[in-house]
Amino acid sequence: MSEKYEKLPLEPFFKTIDELQPKFIERLQKAIAIPSVSSDESLRPKVVEMAHFLVGELESLGFTDIQLKDLGTQPPPVQDANLQLPPIVLGRYGQDPKKKTVLVYGHYDVQPALKDDGWSTEPFDMHYDKANGILYGRGSTDDKGPVMGWLNVIEAHRKLGWELPVNLVVCFEGMEESGSLGLDELVAKEAKQYFKNVDQVTISDNYWLGTTKPVLTYGLRGCNYYQIIVKGPGADLHSGIFGGIIAEPMTDLVKIMSTLVDGKGKIQIPGVYDMVAPLTEKEDKLYDNIDFSVDELNAAAGSDTALHQNKRDILKHRWRYPSLSLHGIEGAFSGAGAKTVIPSKVVGKFSIRTVPNIDLAKLDQLVFKHINEEFAKLNSPNEFKVELIHDGNYWVSDPFNESFQAAAKATEDVWNIVPDFTREGGSIPITLTFEKELGVDVLLLPMGRGDDGAHSINEKLDVSNYINGCKTLGGFLHYYGKS
Ligand code: BES
Ligand code: MN
Ligand code: MN
Repeated sequence: MSEKYEKLPLEPFFKTIDELQPKFIERLQKAIAIPSVSSDESLRPKVVEMAHFLVGELESLGFTDIQLKDLGTQPPPVQDANLQLPPIVLGRYGQDPKKKTVLVYGHYDVQPALKDDGWSTEPFDMHYDKANGILYGRGSTDDKGPVMGWLNVIEAHRKLGWELPVNLVVCFEGMEESGSLGLDELVAKEAKQYFKNVDQVTISDNYWLGTTKPVLTYGLRGCNYYQIIVKGPGADLHSGIFGGIIAEPMTDLVKIMSTLVDGKGKIQIPGVYDMVAPLTEKEDKLYDNIDFSVDELNAAAGSDTALHQNKRDILKHRWRYPSLSLHGIEGAFSGAGAKTVIPSKVVGKFSIRTVPNIDLAKLDQLVFKHINEEFAKLNSPNEFKVELIHDGNYWVSDPFNESFQAAAKATEDVWNIVPDFTREGGSIPITLTFEKELGVDVLLLPMGRGDDGAHSINEKLDVSNYINGCKTLGGFLHYYGKS
C-alpha cells in the first residue's frame, strides 16, 4: 500500500523531536494543569483559560491569523441560562498557494476527574513516572497530548530551520466532551472562509486498539445522549415518614432504565437494530486480520467481564453495532453510608452509540416512544420527561485514500511496522461535519494506546507514544505534502 511514496529523509526531524522531549513534556504538564472540564459549569472559566493558553502557544510558535471564535451561550438543558460556550481557537501556519493545506482538529476540554475517584496521583498535576516512561494526568491522552503534539511538530521544524511541508490550519474546540455544541454551525460558516483551500482534515483524538501496534482509523460510532427526568415531591423526604405512601421518582426511573438494555448488551428499544447496515462478506473478512485479543480487552478493562469471547465478535460490537450504556442518576443519593432519603427529582442519563445506517432523528423517535410507553405502564402520578441532550453522527471513510497512505508511510518510518486499519467505538461528533462541509477526506491518526484510560482514573500517555506520536504527526505532513 505504501509503495507509492519514496522514503523521505526525516531523520533530522525525528532527532530534533527527541532532543526537545523535556520541553514537550513540560508543555503537556502546563496544559494538564488547567482543569478544562467542559461538562462542569463551574469550571467553564478554566476551559476558557485553556483556550488562552493555546493562543499563547500559537503566538510564540509564529502562527498567524489567530482567532477566538465566540459561539454564544450554551443551549438548554443547562443550569446557568447565560453560560457562555468556550471559544473555538483558530490559527494558521503558512499560506503558500503551492502547498497543500491540512486542517488539524483537536479538543482542549477534558472529562471530569477527582483524586477521590481513585486516582493514584492528582489528576491535574501531571505525574511523570520516569522509571516506566509514563505521563499520568487528565487529558494526557484525551486530547491534550495530541493537541500539544501538533504544536511540538511546529517547534521542531522551527528549531531545525525547516519549512513546514504543508500549510497548517488549526481548529481546537473546548466542548468536545459535551457534544461539540456550536461547532457544526461554525464549520459550516467557515467552510468557504477560514477553512477555504483546506485539502484534508487530520484528527488525532483516538487510540491504538491494543498496546503495541499502531493503527490508522477510518470509522467512529456516533453518540445520542438522553436524559429521563422524573419529579415527584417538592423536596427530598424522610423515607420513614413518606415511604410507602407517596410515589417515589427513583422507583419509576429505575424501572424505566431497566427496560433499555439487557445484561448481554442487547438494546431493548424496538426498531433500533432494523436500521443497522447488514454485514457484507467483504467486511466480515476484515476482522480476521486485526491484531487484537480478548485478553487485551480484559486487561484494558481491568476485569474478566467481556461479553464476547472472540476477537471478531468483540470488534464487531465495538465498531459496527450500536450499544446503549446507562451512565448515572443525577439527584440520587450516591454518597457513602445509609441515608434514608426519598429523592424528590431524579434525572437518569444514558446514551446510544450509533452506526451506519441509523437515522438519528428516527432513533430519537423510537427512544421517546419506548420510554413514554414504559412510563405509561407505571401509572405513576409523578411528572416525567425524556429529552435528547446532544447527538453526533457516526463516520466511516475509505482507508485507501491519499491521507491514509501518507499516514501509513509515516507510521512505518517511526514504528517500523505497517499499521492496522481500524474503526473505533467512541465518537468525535465533528468528524462527519468536516468531511461534508469542507468536501475533503478526514484521517484519524492516533497517538495513545488502547489502555491509556481515557475518561477513566489514572489516564496516561506513554512518553514513547507522545514522542513517537509527534514524529508520526510531522511525518504524515511530509508524506501528505508530497502526494
Ligand atoms: N477521544 C474521544 C473519542 C474516542 C473515544 C475515540 C474512544 C476513540 C475511542 C472523545 O474525546 C470522546 O470521548 N468523545 C465523546 C463524545 C460524546 C460526548 C459525544 C465520547 O465518545 O464519549
Ligand atoms: Mn477526545
Ligand atoms: Mn473523550
